[in-house]
Amino acid sequence: MKSLEGKHIVLGITGGIAAYKSAVLLRLLIKRGAEVQVVMTPAAKEFITPVTLSTLSGKPVVSEFFTANTGEWHSHVDLGLWADLMVVAPATASTLGKMANGIADNMLVTTYLSAKEHVMVAPAMDLDMYASPSTQRNLATLASDGVEIIEAAEGELASHLVGKGRMAEPEAIVERVEQFFSRRHDMAGMKVAITVGPTYEKIDPVRFIGNYSSGKMGFALAEECASRGAEVIAIAGPVTNYPSNPSIRVLKVESAEEMNAEALKVCASADVSIFAAAVADYRPERVSDHKIKRENSEDMTIRLVRNPDIARNVAELKKDGQTLVGFALETDDALNNAERKLEKKNLDMMVLNSLEDKGAGFRTDTNKVTVITRDGFRKAFPLKSKKEVATDIVDMILELRKKQ
Ligand code: CTP
Repeated sequence: MKSLEGKHIVLGITGGIAAYKSAVLLRLLIKRGAEVQVVMTPAAKEFITPVTLSTLSGKPVVSEFFTANTGEWHSHVDLGLWADLMVVAPATASTLGKMANGIADNMLVTTYLSAKEHVMVAPAMDLDMYASPSTQRNLATLASDGVEIIEAAEGELASHLVGKGRMAEPEAIVERVEQFFSRRHDMAGMKVAITVGPTYEKIDPVRFIGNYSSGKMGFALAEECASRGAEVIAIAGPVTNYPSNPSIRVLKVESAEEMNAEALKVCASADVSIFAAAVADYRPERVSDHKIKRENSEDMTIRLVRNPDIARNVAELKKDGQTLVGFALETDDALNNAERKLEKKNLDMMVLNSLEDKGAGFRTDTNKVTVITRDGFRKAFPLKSKKEVATDIVDMILELRKKQ
């Protein structure tokens, strides 16, 4: 069977010199069995004709909201629902900006806004445009909205300048498309439990001890596992943003003790448990049932007692075939500390993020991680969006499970 047999792909083409490569991309997708609907921006037609593209795809190209002579309306909503994947290649600076900001003044952007499934963009533009703060800001926005960015390559550009801005080659884009579809069901039948976010440890009815965790990394993992076919249950401390995939079950908890109790129940039958929560290690020994008054003393002491170590407690009950993954956030001697935690907590894999790395850790949309496993394997990834980091981590988990 062909690798893209039966897949519905919307190929968005925008007005850049690299649009000629879109014909090659279209042909490669069709050859692999995909059904492709081309959507062009008006400017794209200056670079490649709709006739070429409709001949290759076997379908009329969509570009305007209406067919001028018949008044037939082209529904971007239907296209968005039809597509299993939308690929915008080339994506110009202008289209990236419109997509990032919801400026729906053409068929391509309206289709993007209606797309229910995954979206990839392959930027192509001159090096200065690519490097400009506005393009980079738009790309960062799109990445945090879940759009997959197929980075532009280095090379000679249409301006004859040499630098970063060339659209990725059609073969490389097709490879990403194939990877996307092969990942889509590779967790089918698996149950995944994920602890997410901070915990709040009550001091009195209005105060607590907490931390800056936003739950973004944990929920990115939840989304990734769900999109790959797993049944996902997230045990989440107090956070403000929740996952958008309605199939993810979220059990809301507040304190470490509550999270521990839920995790022990859920993880017992999970194939994969991921401990992404930033659990408070200590809680106040006594919770005052009335608001503590300032009174006259110059200082105050709250005695703290140890919280349960959730990851360790789950690991004590680990059964064959279960995979346990922890996170370590370290400030110094990161790798050694992460390795020690992996052993101490009896986990299979540890994802290390170091606070020394700019853009990694709490409240950011990006992360830079190193994955280490019990058998001594280490892999350091570059700075990526949390969604892309989630893809890498899940790939590593599935690799490890093949060896387990
Ligand atoms: N963890 C947990 N329960 C705790 C503390 C941590 O489940 N009470 C999990 C975290 O979710 C993470 C891993 O253990 O996956 C490591 O967390 P971290 O805070 O880095 O480790 P600690 O054991 O708390 O060690 P320390 O605070 O000394 O660095």
